[in-house]
Amino acid sequence: MIKEITLKELNPAHFISDKVNEIKNIVGKNTAINALSGGVDSSVVTMLGHQALGRNLKTVFIENGLMREGESVQVKGFFKKLGISIDVVDARKEFFAALKGITNPEEKREAITQTFYKNVFGKIVRESGAKFLLQGTILTDVDETVAGIKRQHNVFEQLGIDPQTAFGYRIIEPLIQLRKEGVRKAGKALGLPPELFDRIPFPGPALSARVIGEATPERIETVRKATAVVECLLKNTVAFQYMAILHEDRVTGMRNGKRDFGQQIEVRCWDSKDARTATPTKLSFETLEHLAQEILKNVPGIVSVTYNIATKPPSTIEAV
Ligand code: XMP
Repeated sequence: MIKEITLKELNPAHFISDKVNEIKNIVGKNTAINALSGGVDSSVVTMLGHQALGRNLKTVFIENGLMREGESVQVKGFFKKLGISIDVVDARKEFFAALKGITNPEEKREAITQTFYKNVFGKIVRESGAKFLLQGTILTDVDETVAGIKRQHNVFEQLGIDPQTAFGYRIIEPLIQLRKEGVRKAGKALGLPPELFDRIPFPGPALSARVIGEATPERIETVRKATAVVECLLKNTVAFQYMAILHEDRVTGMRNGKRDFGQQIEVRCWDSKDARTATPTKLSFETLEHLAQEILKNVPGIVSVTYNIATKPPSTIEAV
């Protein structure tokens, strides 16, 4: 049973020094590695890890082909300013090969997990000689996986999987007692810029969690373009999270006076405290119309835009 540290209980300075010491003690003179996605959790782990291990921590950004527009360059830039250098590893081929033909949501998540931890990361870890992987699993990831709601890509021990046996390295999870708000508070105290500690959550399986059906390079590109529009237009809302989802069903539409059997984008925008429950944000109709216009204008092949008005539960925040 993991003991939660609630937002109220969290003293960021104590938490940081506890975790830095813990990481130092576990890793000792060995080296560790961590994957930075640019999300809040992995950014905080990167900072903690570098405070604890300095040059004995290698940080990589895995370009899996499923990230948002311009992500690797932007994230690398943020960390350069903080004095941390990031290696970008191109693994687009491996991820798309693993996702080929898969439409079932849980199979998709499993394909991402295996590709990441076994193939791509496994190889990087073996080559680097690192014995430990630092990763930003938070309590909500564990709760949902254990409850059987969604297999979060980064949860193992709680499912009875020993990473040492399965992948050949040990995993250290310094954020496992926190929820999102706690992680943000720690990130702020660690000196991350607001663009990182205040960033909306983004799932490990990245845009493949936002494509219903097969995640091909073309379909990911479609949802990537729609995501850029949604994030740009909703960035000033105080919502917990917002996103675009590409549907599998096609609908009849018209373009240039001709029938166009096109695709649909669903916009979701959530109010939530900790992602365990969520309600749709009451966006104004003007904002919704603006979203539709910009998506139709900027995303080729889309003829329909909808807004999700269901709550979590029974919905979940991501569509896959
Ligand atoms: P759901 O979709 O389960 O999401 O309501 C709850 C929160 O978790 C994020 N999420 C993930 N985060 N790995 C992660 O690190 C995952 O596999 C994953 N799936 C969902 C989601 O964006 C939301 O904030």
